[in-house]
Amino acid sequence: MHHFEYKSGRLHCEGVDLNLIADTAGTPVYVYSTATLRRHARVIAAAFEGQNCLIAYSVKANGNLAVLKTLASEGCGADVVSGGEMRRAMTAGIPASKIVFSGVGKTRGEMALGLEIGIHQFNVESAAELEALSEVATFLGKTAPVALRVNPDVAAGGHPNISTGKAGDKFGVPWADAPALYERMKDLPGIKAVGVDVHIGSQIGELAPMRAAFEKTISLVKQLREAGHDLTRIDLGGGLGIPYKSDDSPAPPSDYAEMIREVTEGLGLEVILEPGRVIAGNAGVMVSEVLYHKPAPDRTFLIIDAGMNDLMRPALYQAHHDILPVNEPAAGTAETRYDIVGPICESTDKFAAERTMPEVAVGDRIAFMSSGAYGAVLSSQYNARPLVSEVLVDGDNYAIVRRRPRFEDMIELEQMPDWLI
Ligand code: LLP
Repeated sequence: MHHFEYKSGRLHCEGVDLNLIADTAGTPVYVYSTATLRRHARVIAAAFEGQNCLIAYSVKANGNLAVLKTLASEGCGADVVSGGEMRRAMTAGIPASKIVFSGVGKTRGEMALGLEIGIHQFNVESAAELEALSEVATFLGKTAPVALRVNPDVAAGGHPNISTGKAGDKFGVPWADAPALYERMKDLPGIKAVGVDVHIGSQIGELAPMRAAFEKTISLVKQLREAGHDLTRIDLGGGLGIPYKSDDSPAPPSDYAEMIREVTEGLGLEVILEPGRVIAGNAGVMVSEVLYHKPAPDRTFLIIDAGMNDLMRPALYQAHHDILPVNEPAAGTAETRYDIVGPICESTDKFAAERTMPEVAVGDRIAFMSSGAYGAVLSSQYNARPLVSEVLVDGDNYAIVRRRPRFEDMIELEQMPDWLI
């Protein structure tokens, strides 16, 4: 569910016409709905009501400070994968006690930051990382609460590039190594094992692979408890899918919560979840303006002012985004087929091939739906294009929450060496 719909012939985000935002903020621009963000956070919280559960929003999906602050006010914690994300979460007012730190390549500096501020949990992904964390914690006189991320060897995820739980993936420790690593933790100074962590992929529409991975992980928790480890938490990662097309029907949060209740029942574990896409995905769109029509012998290219640097998902994962004209097509408007492309000098700069949609004119705006997660966060300045801007809507209000950099901002970090001056 989301809050983007036509009103008086114009696509609105809540009470605001997307044309108005495009006029004032320019295009391309991401537009986020506060109402949708809040709704998704509440639906998930309601689904897990009565379960001892920390909802640690996965900052990588959309780390804009205004988005984080909105979710902080809904009580969300944060799943972070870098010192930068940790600082973003803190800046937005998410307390350290609700932050979990994931990722395969934490630096010692990042570990120190997490220890200094006292985060809830480190999700550790290798024996070497465990030793490093022990050294840093001992040096600082702290104890790191640790969950080992295990690799359950279960396939899942909407695309091979976003599957993380198979044995050949770089994520998690091999299943068979886990018991010995927990034994090692007993002797490691500065380390306290508090739980087990698992995350098998993203855009997962069916619960079966998740249930398989979670049941396997629960059996490990039981085995470890029997071996004398006092484990009180289980982190089940993120990954719940969202509808990108109208006929997509991924499992709803209520079924997901019920499945988790069943598999964790009676164990007295705190359940940590790291949802990203399911909260932010359908809460955002990217708006772009049509620059040119370019007829070719067998097709028409629709050239727009957004490029793959602004929205990477189609180029990276062949992802589908519904594309709607911001001006609602009048009854009887002809449908046509476009290859929708951007201005970047790469053949992968293509948002859609042979997309059937109503005819749009030069100067019209189009909206890429379901772009709130893994949209602006993946954008770059490739081709020396300014970073795409971001706008947050709340009812009839809107504000630019990340401005487009000026040319001077874009070159600010560069310096001429002496010999070229
Ligand atoms: N926890 C961990 C350890 C993760 O690696 C991820 C996502 C999440 C939680 C959040 O997963 P979510 O609930 O959003 O599915 N850029 C790709 C998706 C990459 C996902 C990376 N990890 C895309 O645009 O589809």
